[in-house]
Amino acid sequence: MNIAVIGAAGGVGRQVVSQLGQAGHQVRALVRTQAQADMMTLHGAMPNMGDLTGEWKQVLDGADAVVWAAGAGMSGQYQAIDGDALENVADTLSQQGPKRFVVVSSMGVDRPEAMPPFLIPVLKVKAVSDAHVQESGLDFTIVRPGGLSDQPGTGRVQIGLQAPRGQIAREDVARVVVACLMDDNTVGKTFEVIGGDMDVHDALAAI
Ligand SMILES: NC(=O)c1ccc[n+]([C@@H]2O[C@H](COP(=O)([O-])OP(=O)(O)OC[C@H]3O[C@@H](n4cnc5c(N)ncnc54)[C@H](OP(=O)(O)O)[C@@H]3O)[C@@H](O)[C@H]2O)c1
Repeated sequence: MNIAVIGAAGGVGRQVVSQLGQAGHQVRALVRTQAQADMMTLHGAMPNMGDLTGEWKQVLDGADAVVWAAGAGMSGQYQAIDGDALENVADTLSQQGPKRFVVVSSMGVDRPEAMPPFLIPVLKVKAVSDAHVQESGLDFTIVRPGGLSDQPGTGRVQIGLQAPRGQIAREDVARVVVACLMDDNTVGKTFEVIGGDMDVHDALAAI
């Protein structure tokens, strides 16, 4: 498959690019700097320089599916990135394709008040943009991970409509994203995921 990764230089995005490449897929990677572009080339991906607040659509050329792994992070620009930019990408895909769209969102989007207070603003923004994706008519999957870590992944997860609060390795979030791209059972589904004891494919088959 040809897959466009948005947020390709981020923690989860880098893992997605790497795993897709290892699985033999063609990857187009949206990045913001030349250094990130060089890193993508080293991983065998085709970089596209762009910015979600400006020009970015070239990354979609030839794509069969799109992964969203972007986020405002420490910049705090939640409305611009996790909100408006995600909705803009979904609208663009609705108009011109491709239809398959896997989004990395966050645990707690459906219950921000139950999450740590510092997360409430971004979760409230993501709640609106996730709903926009769900109503877009796209073949979406929304993956809502718990707290992200840079520990090595285990390949084993717990998935549920609402999972217990917990952590998951970025490497394992990427495994889930890559598995979703290959698994039509995940189309139209939104779920939370943390580290657990089920094989990723078995856990996805059970949703
Ligand atoms: N941190 C957590 O514990 C946690 C928990 C649950 C869910 N999440 C969510 O999971 C997702 C992935 O998290 P992560 O930690 O892997 O993210 P990350 O490392 O912060 O990466 C986010 C990526 O988005 C890119 N980005 C931001 N603004 C952009 C713009 N205007 N144009 C193009 N790209 C832009 C960044 O580009 P640059 O590299 O150029 O800055 C970066 O590559 C995010 O949506 C996050 O909110 C995080």
